[in-house]
Amino acid sequence: MTQIPFWLDTDTGVDDAFALLAALYLKNAEMVGASAVAGNVTHDKTFRNARNVLAYFGHPEIPVYPGAEQPLEIPLQTAAYIHGNNGLGGVILPDSDAPVETKPAWEAIYEAACAHENFEIVAVGPLTNIAILIQNHPDIKDHVKQIRIMGGVAQGGTWSVCGEFNICVDPHAAEIVFQSGIPIMMFGIDVTMKASVEKEDIEAIEAMTSKAGRLFADCMDLATIANSERFGRTAVAVHDVLPVLSYDYPELFNGVHCGVHVETAGVITSGMTVTDIWSAKKYPEKNAEVMLEVDREAFIRVFKGLLARI
Ligand code: RIB
Ligand code: CA
Repeated sequence: MTQIPFWLDTDTGVDDAFALLAALYLKNAEMVGASAVAGNVTHDKTFRNARNVLAYFGHPEIPVYPGAEQPLEIPLQTAAYIHGNNGLGGVILPDSDAPVETKPAWEAIYEAACAHENFEIVAVGPLTNIAILIQNHPDIKDHVKQIRIMGGVAQGGTWSVCGEFNICVDPHAAEIVFQSGIPIMMFGIDVTMKASVEKEDIEAIEAMTSKAGRLFADCMDLATIANSERFGRTAVAVHDVLPVLSYDYPELFNGVHCGVHVETAGVITSGMTVTDIWSAKKYPEKNAEVMLEVDREAFIRVFKGLLARI
């Protein structure tokens, strides 16, 4: 089967790190490049982390391009309470010796999109880079088949009462991306929280001797504590891994094709993905496949299998 070429745009934090890892071992898709955006921590750290994670797992040749240091219109909010001040839960990885790319992410992604058939983007951080790409290159929709997003939520919220972090950090960028005309596959916290790594899984991973298992055990402490304080149970969500694994395991996910807009002007609701999952038909377009269900047991089995063997 011909692999789908895709780009991974990330605000490498702890779950992004395992999205990068999963992206290295897909059968049905090939990561042709990656880029960094400010989000979980500031851009200097997300850029360094993405480079170092790829090098740590033996793939410094995959280029990582620098991206936006600030959201389009509002001040940056970060999530160091989950990802640690350095973005990897305090884990210090060796610095990659790969050449330091300087071309802006949105130019590198455009070039890659023009050079590959059936090109896709996976965006697992705030959508600032992708929005700038769309603003700078309106023809990009002719070169990108689909954007798989970790972000948003149809019901509820974790960063706000009605919003998810990636979208709330840059709601203006997100609305540009959702209305770009490029089909969206949205992996919101509706589905990523249902795939949380629970206490018994964490214990099993902590017993692993593999490199990936050790890294998970070492970098997820803060995230696990933050989750436990918030949700009253020992668990951690590896949000960003879901859109990446969807290439090889599409059968694990189930969603609704519907219209989505992002609130950008609300006082309470800024960053809300206003999702027409009940087909109220108030939107002219059904622009997204919004994932709502996941086979958690199968997902955890696949994820733990990956950690155990790398
Ligand atoms: O809300 C979860 C998302 O926000 C994940 O992508 C996590 O890495 C943070 O960026
Ligand atoms: Ca992320």
